[in-house]
Amino acid sequence: MSTSRRLSLSPMKLILAACALSALPGFSAGSKVLAAGAKDPKADRLWRAKCASCHGEDGKAGTEQGKKMAIRDMTSAAWQKEFSDAQIEQAIQNGLKRNKDGKAQEMEAFKDKVRPDQLPLLVAYVRALAQ
Ligand code: HEC
Repeated sequence: MSTSRRLSLSPMKLILAACALSALPGFSAGSKVLAAGAKDPKADRLWRAKCASCHGEDGKAGTEQGKKMAIRDMTSAAWQKEFSDAQIEQAIQNGLKRNKDGKAQEMEAFKDKVRPDQLPLLVAYVRALAQ
């Protein structure tokens, strides 16, 4: 008797927990963006054409360029936490040129090659890499 009551309670608790989680604005908005980016074929084409040669198709930068320039793994939780959407957009638009542990890091500015309406798609794509 007591066992069956416990069993019937726990799925209910799970449902309640799920409801509470999806009610958080950040949670639901975030997952919508991720889903859109992951499925967007245009973003996928852009990424493969313009980004994957350095960052890798999977974003882990296991490419020759990735190793040469010590490019970080964008799929890691630490990376995702460190960069805001605005910073990601900024990097895409303006590119970067710097030095890290004696390795020259260079990324071209994409502001003339990526349309403004494509920027949010790329940001969502970068976020979706982490899944
Ligand atoms: C020529 C190689 C190259 C290409 C192509 C390239 N990147 Fe990068 N990218 C880099 C390097 C080098 C860094 C800095 C490495 C690091 O610290 O991880 C970087 C960093 C970034 C960052 C983080 C910004 C920062 O300050 O570290 C983002 C976001 C990014 N790239 C997005 C993109 C996107 C999106 C594309 C395609 C539109 C792209 N990159 C194409 C080389 C490249």
